Amino acid sequence: MRLDSAVLVFEELSLVPALPNSGVHDARPVAVGVIGVGNMGQHHVRVLSFLKDVQLVGVADINVERGLQLATKYQVRFFADYRDLLPHVEAVCVAVPTRLHYEVGMTCIRHGVHILMEKPIAASIAEAERLVSAATEANCILQVGHIERFNPAFLELQKVLQQEEILALEAHRLSPYSQRANDVSVVLDLMIHDIDLLLELTAAPVVQLTASGTHASGSGYLDYVTATLTFDNGVIASLTASKVTHRKVRRLTIHGKNSLTEADFLNNEIFIHRHLPGQPTGQVLYRQDEWVERVYTNNIEPLQAELEHFVNCVREGNQPSVGGEQALRALRLATRIEQIALHNQIWSVPRNGLEKSLVSP
Ligand SMILES: NC(=O)c1ccc[n+]([C@@H]2O[C@H](COP(=O)([O-])OP(=O)(O)OC[C@H]3O[C@@H](n4cnc5c(N)ncnc54)[C@H](O)[C@@H]3O)[C@@H](O)[C@H]2O)c1
Repeated sequence: MRLDSAVLVFEELSLVPALPNSGVHDARPVAVGVIGVGNMGQHHVRVLSFLKDVQLVGVADINVERGLQLATKYQVRFFADYRDLLPHVEAVCVAVPTRLHYEVGMTCIRHGVHILMEKPIAASIAEAERLVSAATEANCILQVGHIERFNPAFLELQKVLQQEEILALEAHRLSPYSQRANDVSVVLDLMIHDIDLLLELTAAPVVQLTASGTHASGSGYLDYVTATLTFDNGVIASLTASKVTHRKVRRLTIHGKNSLTEADFLNNEIFIHRHLPGQPTGQVLYRQDEWVERVYTNNIEPLQAELEHFVNCVREGNQPSVGGEQALRALRLATRIEQIALHNQIWSVPRNGLEKSLVSP
């Protein structure tokens, strides 16, 4: 079938992606709390409040008005000091500002409480390394909120790409300016999601990297960064993240040998484009022929899938799919991109290969 490029062929590829949370479990409720109930933490509270086999015990926030508002809405206990919440729970979601992840995380680990830490795992590599080793020593689960791994569009994309040879990837994660998350650069706030996805998709170390960035909001941190990466297996990637763009975009484009695949994480959509070989008959100058397939995806909320996975890991004693090591891997590369962007440099693996381990998946 031959089509003009403007015409879409909607073809169902699959309906039900296997979610990481599927599986048999006992019905023992897990006692959970949320520390930090601002922009992100409020959504943890909302989802935990309806999850099966979860007992949402309480919320903690230094902003008493905000904490009481959420506690009243969901009829749970409020703690002005998060340390008072810890004796009552088995697990917590930590959604305080990034610079506090280390301090709050270490305190939870000392109390033997399992953690779902919002991304990025910590504000520095040294802090993240200490968190990961402390959690391991204390036998605490440390999952990190790289939520896009649970996005149905990403889960389906991974399946689509099993049949494809990847040549290049392009990630765009753009947001209008807001007052939130101004304690880190756009690389640690937004780009780190795509860094994690790219490391997962390419499964290869980065061997060369260039990056540039600009300050636009006066926060003192980079607000717009674009980076170009070359992986050891020849795949190249470009990533752009912005906190100052007048439209919200969350898009990953994969240039493959046989197709172009576009994933839109905002609208939970995937389109696969394939060029049709052969020439059209007759004198047709302004025409390109292609197939476009739309991949149907599950519409579970990514945060629900992420929290179900966390609670199941706690209940069954399993390691999470996005644990401390994976988050550390993303933070190492993010930190390098940030440094290169700040100084407009080019970085490549030195001959002795020492640096290679810094960005290896
Ligand atoms: N996974 C995602 O897509 C996503 C999205 C947004 C934010 N985040 C992450 O979530 C974290 C929080 O971001 P946000 O935008 O919700 O910030 P926010 O400022 O809106 O919320 C932070 C909350 O933590 C509270 N807080 C501060 N210090 C505290 C303490 N010592 N004890 C208890 N509460 C304390 C604040 O009062 C506030 O209510 C950041 O690490 C951010 O990177 C992740």
